Amino acid sequence: MSTLIIEGLNGRKTLRGSIRVCGAKNSVLPTMAAALLINGEAVLENVPDIADVHAMRVLIENLGSTVSREGATLSIQSRDLHGVVLDHKAAKSLRASILLTGSVLARMGRVTFPHPGGDLIGERPIDIFAAGFQTLGAQVTEEGDSYIFSAPEGLTGGEYFFSTVSVTATEALMMAATLAKGTVVLRNAAMEPEVVALAEFLISCGAKIQGAGTPVIVITPVSLVEPPPYRIIPDRIEAATFLTLGALAGEEVRVENILVHHLDSVLDVLARMGVPFTIGSDYIVVRAPEKLRPIRVRTHEYPGFATDAHPPVMVLLTQADGQSVLIESIFDGRLRYTEELVRMGANIEMVSPHRAQIMGPRPLRGAAIETPDIRAGLAFILAAIAAEGTSRVGRAELIDRGYEKIEDRLRAVGVTISRENT
Ligand code: EPU
Repeated sequence: MSTLIIEGLNGRKTLRGSIRVCGAKNSVLPTMAAALLINGEAVLENVPDIADVHAMRVLIENLGSTVSREGATLSIQSRDLHGVVLDHKAAKSLRASILLTGSVLARMGRVTFPHPGGDLIGERPIDIFAAGFQTLGAQVTEEGDSYIFSAPEGLTGGEYFFSTVSVTATEALMMAATLAKGTVVLRNAAMEPEVVALAEFLISCGAKIQGAGTPVIVITPVSLVEPPPYRIIPDRIEAATFLTLGALAGEEVRVENILVHHLDSVLDVLARMGVPFTIGSDYIVVRAPEKLRPIRVRTHEYPGFATDAHPPVMVLLTQADGQSVLIESIFDGRLRYTEELVRMGANIEMVSPHRAQIMGPRPLRGAAIETPDIRAGLAFILAAIAAEGTSRVGRAELIDRGYEKIEDRLRAVGVTISRENT
C-alpha cells in the first residue's frame, strides 16, 4: 500500500516549470496485445514504465511471448506463442487484458479468460466483444468463472455494428480481423487516437486497414510481417491532467511531448473557462487566471471531451466563479469520487449518477482520502495541491497503474510531494 503526501498551496498559483508527458497507457496496451499477431518481433518505443504495462507483460509472457525492456523500448518476440489461457490474477487486475482476446483468438483459434478486472468506475460488461467475435464465426461459451472464445478454423469475414461505441472492443476486433479469412467491416467504431495508432502499428506490420479514426473501419486480411520499430503516441489524458494542473495552480507550466491536435476538446474547456495558454509545436504553456469562468462539460467519445480527463477538470470547476455542470455520459459509477472532494470543501451536488452541479469557488482543505481508480487519484492530487494544509492520498498504487514517476514530475514544477509505503 502506498500513500502520497502533498503539501497544499492554499490557492496560491506558484507552480512553474516543465512536465514531460509519457507514452500513452491506452495505446501501449493494445499495441502490446497486437504484437502477439506477429510471428516474430515487435519493438515498441516511448513505452511508459507503469504497473499496467507490467501486468500486460506478465500476461503475454505467460502465453509464450518473450519480452525485454531497455529504457523506454520494449521488444516482444511472439514466434513461439503457445498459450490460450490468460493468467487469472493478471487478467483480473487489468481491464485491458480483454484486448488479448483479439490477438490470441485470431492467432491460436481459442482464448480462455476470466471476467476482466480494472477500475471501479461502473459496470464494464464484455457483451460487445462476445457479439463481435460471434459475427466473425467464433463460438462463445462460459465455464465456471471463465469465458472461452473459439474459432478452430479461423475467423471469417463479416460486418459488425457496435451497439455501444467501445474503444477496446473496436481495437480487439480490428486486430483479430487482420488474420481473418475475409474482409471485416466495423461500423459505429470508436474514433479515439489510440484506435488510429493501433491501425498505424498494424499497417506497419503489413495489414490493410482503411477508415481508422472514422466510424467505419474496413480490414482486408493479409499475412503480417515483422514491423519496423514503432513509437507509442503521447498520453493525451496525462497531457489534459497536467494542463488542468497548470490552469489551477500554475504561474507558468509547460506541458511537453504532446500531440496538440489530440487535445482540441481539452483546450476548448480551458478556453471557455478563461484559462490563458499558448500552443507550441509539441508543447502548451498554461497559466492559472485570476478568475475561472463556470461552464457546462459533457464527456463524450472522441473527438468529444474524454471521460478519463473529467476528474481533474472537476477539481478546476470547484474553483470557478459560479455554477458549473459536469455530465459523465460514458460510465455509471465514475462520479462517486466527488464525495471525497466534498469532504475537502467542494460544493458538488449529484443531480443524478451522471450529472454533477458544482458551485464555486470554494476553498479546499487538506484531507486523508483513498483513490478508487487511476483518474480520480489524479483529481485528488490536484485538489490536494490547491488545498490548504497537508493531504494524504491512499491507494497510490492505483495511480502507478497509469502514471510513471508521478512524484518526480510534479516536483519538477514545484509541488511538495512524498510517498509512504506500508
Ligand atoms: N461497454 C459495454 N459492453 C462491452 C464493452 C463496453 O456495454 O462489451 C460499455 C461500457 O460499460 C461503457 C462504454 O461501453 O459504458 C464505453 O466503454 P469502452 O468499452 O469504450 O471502455 P474501454 O474500452 O473498456 C477504454 C479505456 C478507458 C476509457 C474508455 C472510454 C483502455 C485500456 N481503456 O476503456 O480508460 O475510460 O475507453 O474512453 O483503452 C483509464 O485509462 O483510466 C480508463 C478507464
